[in-house]
Amino acid sequence: MSKSLNDLFRSNRQGALGSISGLVGALLLTAAALPLHAQAQAASPTHLRVCSDPDNLPFSKSEGPDKGLYIDLAEKVGQRLGMPVDYVWWLTFNQRRAMRNSMAGCDAYFALPADADYKVRGLLKTSSFLNVSYAAVGAPGQSIHTLTDLKNKRVGVLFGSPPQILLAVNEGFNAQTFRTHEQAFEALNKHEIDVALLWGPSAGYDNVKQFNNQWQVTPITGEGMGGQVAVAVQKDQPELKEKIDQALKDLQPEIAALAKKYGFPSQLPVNLSSANRASESGKNGAADHVVTAANNTSKFMRQVADMPAKISDESLQAAKSRFNNTCSHCHGANGASPISERDLRKLKSRYKDQWQEVAYTTITKGRPELGMPTWGGVIPDDEIKNVIQFLATVQR
Ligand code: HEC
Repeated sequence: MSKSLNDLFRSNRQGALGSISGLVGALLLTAAALPLHAQAQAASPTHLRVCSDPDNLPFSKSEGPDKGLYIDLAEKVGQRLGMPVDYVWWLTFNQRRAMRNSMAGCDAYFALPADADYKVRGLLKTSSFLNVSYAAVGAPGQSIHTLTDLKNKRVGVLFGSPPQILLAVNEGFNAQTFRTHEQAFEALNKHEIDVALLWGPSAGYDNVKQFNNQWQVTPITGEGMGGQVAVAVQKDQPELKEKIDQALKDLQPEIAALAKKYGFPSQLPVNLSSANRASESGKNGAADHVVTAANNTSKFMRQVADMPAKISDESLQAAKSRFNNTCSHCHGANGASPISERDLRKLKSRYKDQWQEVAYTTITKGRPELGMPTWGGVIPDDEIKNVIQFLATVQR
């Protein structure tokens, strides 16, 4: 668990975000699923074709009044380059095949983790243009300078998030776990917790949009708590990469203004690194903390036998949303992660006939040491089975 974490670059307002420290690059929507490679044949571009996530405020959104920081920024970059921007919204699994076939593509992707560990084949990355991190959300004037300052506070964290793990592997914290940002904010409102450690961009945006800036949102640093983002460009367009890079440098003041507009926390970050207190017991702490689900294989086989051969469209849609709300931060939208071990479209080719069984065991018991949370006892069993049915629809 030594690598810095680039995970959380999605807005993550639903629980289980992010990732546990050391996992590189999770969440990110799945650059692999981007049709970036698809369009090498495009004639010398007059428009800048930008791929982005259609539903990822405060970063990007295809509809509505707020387009998100990435999209506002893409417009400004387009202006600098003298290229009107066309958007390729990234894509649900229904559309994906169609997209592949029609070879739609884009020139730039806004945005990916800048960390060198986060490699995506076929892509170049600009320099980073923005810091993103978790944040401590609480009443104005609260003073948190170190991890120890959290000890006498009731701390809200989201299930599966790096802050949850941080508090779990260190002794003496009073952590309460929530599934969504909404629940954490509600608990703050009701004074059931003193501070919540939430994904900064989302919490900041909610604070501006819903709470009239009533909360103090202070960025935090420490392993797994944040990183930087960059724009990705197709490998065969190094000149475009240079141009976008320069535009991003020139646009720094505008980027700061956009971060302010969307409520991204901008104060000096507080360092909650636990480096000097991660004790011997720290190593297994996260695993110990996670409840082990009591499901075994034979029980699973019975359950599979019980599964309706085909679930209703409604349940399938619900399972898809569940997946995309809870799992996509680490596995990509619809399971299409650019990181092979997390690409859930490969389950069947990987485990053949046993794939559903492996999936069920992994989901219910987790692989905590590798960063896969334990969902048994968290997500109802029939929902887990429906999620597996949904995953069946994305197998290749
Ligand atoms: C915090 C990040 C994270 C979240 C959230 C998460 N996973 Fe995972 N998951 C992982 C990682 C990391 C692995 C890969 C572990 C490994 O390398 O074996 C994994 C592995 C898996 C596997 C096994 C893949 C394989 O090929 O062996 C399945 C199935 C899976 N996850 C399903 C889910 C589902 C369903 C959800 C949502 C309910 C979910 N995961 C949420 C991080 C996450």
